[in-house]
Amino acid sequence: MNMNMEKNKDKKVVLSGIRSTGNLHLGNYFGAVSKFLKLQDEYDCRYFIADLHALTTNPDPKMLHESVKNILAEYLAAGLDPEKNMLYVQSDIPEISEMYLLLNMHVGIGELMRTASFKDKARKALGITSDSDEIEKEIIGNQTNQRVNAGLLTYPTLMAVDILIHHADYVPVGKDQEQHLELTRRFARRFNSFYGVDYFGEPVNFNFGGEALKVPGLDGSGKMGKSEGNCIYLIDDEKTLRKKVMRAVTDEGPKVPDSPVSQPVANLFLLMDLVSDKEVVDHFRKAYADCSIRYGDMKKQLAEDLLKVTLPIRERILDIRSNDELLAKVVKSGAERARAYAADTLREVREIMGIRKI
Ligand code: ADP
Ligand code: TRP
Repeated sequence: MNMNMEKNKDKKVVLSGIRSTGNLHLGNYFGAVSKFLKLQDEYDCRYFIADLHALTTNPDPKMLHESVKNILAEYLAAGLDPEKNMLYVQSDIPEISEMYLLLNMHVGIGELMRTASFKDKARKALGITSDSDEIEKEIIGNQTNQRVNAGLLTYPTLMAVDILIHHADYVPVGKDQEQHLELTRRFARRFNSFYGVDYFGEPVNFNFGGEALKVPGLDGSGKMGKSEGNCIYLIDDEKTLRKKVMRAVTDEGPKVPDSPVSQPVANLFLLMDLVSDKEVVDHFRKAYADCSIRYGDMKKQLAEDLLKVTLPIRERILDIRSNDELLAKVVKSGAERARAYAADTLREVREIMGIRKI
């Protein structure tokens, strides 16, 4: 029964995706894509663009299509090699949609409703500002035109299928996705135990021995994210990036030596840790400790060091993004390879579940 697993026993399978909802930002880059890059030489890597997941927030069709091309160009510009990795678009693999239907039969609406990302998005959709945990009641009792769509609820099922259809061992993602990964493992165990098989393994995040990363926003918030509207994008030009960094929220500065660091300033240090040399970071930490720090200088340095990472990528994005032929070729070949694999899993899942030819 474990045919798929047999095929790749020499190399562990790595799988991850990013929703096509715009452009890649530093959170995506450091939380996810930089991990993809480190893994591509050693593992059997499959990276995709989650356009079906993007549909859960009802994007404009033209924007959705543009976003798919953007993310693909950005994957390539960041350094993902289409020869080494399967790069594909989720909707090019219809087997995923079918398996999503099948797996949903083993997923409880209660557990989906309790997922943090669902609660957040449902609150937004219904315009609920309170932190109330009564979201289930709010949804069921809602009589307005606002709607929480069922796709949003079943988002974790689709994500679990993305992962399980490849029998992935590792799923490199940022910290915010760990709950979805936990659900994936739960669904896999449930499937195995319901059918009395040992078919799906239990995929885990890949953190290179450290903790999953959460890249902060420059507005003092804990997370850089598209819906938070506080992103620095890989595609930002020099002027835009500098402006965003110089506007970053700080505080009044330390008044006494060795003061604790406030959240907005800690965020700046965290970003610096990601892109600046150790001596540079140490210099500013010392300046903070002895109260001589000037946030303006720190921001200028941070912008400089960020640009060293983003500008070369930006140039490649502009180049690749205009090459439709290349983009089409990459996803065609990626989809062919991913589909062959997905079709095997789907066939086996149907067989296990009792969907058999008469
Ligand atoms: P967004 O939150 O901006 O909509 P996605 O949800 O599409 O971005 O995230 C795609 C990938 O990037 C996921 O692996 C996610 O964990 C990672 N990611 C997004 N934002 C951050 C962040 N601020 N810090 C770390 N990783 C992040
Ligand atoms: N949910 C992920 C995000 O918002 C995107 C995603 C969809 C994904 N399917 C996946 C990530 C499978 C890893 C594996 O970022």
